[in-house]
Amino acid sequence: MRSKDTQLKVDPVCGMDLSEYTDVVEIFHQEKGFYFCGKGCEDRFKKNPSRFQGEPLIKLDNIWKIFKLGETETKVLTGLNLHIWEGDFVAIIGSSGSGKSTALNMIGLLDRPTSGRIFLNGEDVSLLNDDKRNGLRSKTFGFVFQQYNLISWLTAYENVNLPLVFSGKKIEMKKLEARFEKMGLKERLTHRSFELSGGEQQRVALLRALVNDPEIILGDEPTGNLDSATGNKILEILIDLNRNRKKTLIIVTHDADIAEKADQVITFKDGHLVRDHQAHKKAYTE
Ligand SMILES: Nc1ncnc2c1ncn2[C@@H]1O[C@H](COP(=O)(O)OP(=O)(O)OP(=O)(O)O)[C@@H](O)[C@H]1O
Ligand SMILES: [Mg+2]
Repeated sequence: MRSKDTQLKVDPVCGMDLSEYTDVVEIFHQEKGFYFCGKGCEDRFKKNPSRFQGEPLIKLDNIWKIFKLGETETKVLTGLNLHIWEGDFVAIIGSSGSGKSTALNMIGLLDRPTSGRIFLNGEDVSLLNDDKRNGLRSKTFGFVFQQYNLISWLTAYENVNLPLVFSGKKIEMKKLEARFEKMGLKERLTHRSFELSGGEQQRVALLRALVNDPEIILGDEPTGNLDSATGNKILEILIDLNRNRKKTLIIVTHDADIAEKADQVITFKDGHLVRDHQAHKKAYTE
């Protein structure tokens, strides 16, 4: 994508590489030049310039993902550059097939790129071996998917407890019970997951995602299968974790109402970001 002789123009906020564009205006701050994909990122930067000159929590650098099926190559991520900042609520939007889920899987270390580098807290994690990646993933990320992915023959409690079995961490039974109670699932601890409603299953999935106390929560259309009232409750819980427990929250969504609540909206097209992401309506906390 990027030829050697073009000057690198990276939006410090969203990480988008603007080198290919000839109409991007250079903006000076304290005598240093910066480029922005649009007003949303420029405004965020101006509110807190020092924050966005630091190291992003997550940085994707020129990520390509090419699937090969026989002779056919599908280029799903095409030179994706992206920054995610600690403590942000980020909504990833874009049309079906634009690579959102594939990108989320890269961020969560569930899949490896064909090429490119992934940094977590400034550390290059792209070349870690499977053991190290698995350890880092279970310590750092909590996943909430559209399909709840519970194991149907295990009880709600056993499903939630599963990540602890893998990580070797322990949590007091009383504490876990209190969490079930807080989610309105006190009476459902010993139900097998096929005996639970969709909303209950998603809340169990959420408890499971949070049991290791992850720093980053990744949701791929987490409310996509739920009616709007139940979906809103799940969303409320996720946003509360972001606002009050400082979890970085990244949600892939088709729902404009969710995107409207986010600190940062990232729009995908054909496997990379497009310029001038949707305007942010929320007042920023930074
Ligand atoms: N394992 C795979 N092998 C081949 N192609 C794949 C594979 N996984 C995804 N793709 C293709 O990559 C493209 C992007 O998929 P992805 O799931 O990332 O899209 P998305 O933006 O999440 O779409 P949606 O909004 O429909 O969930 C699609 O065209 C899909 O068919
Ligand atoms: Mg998807």
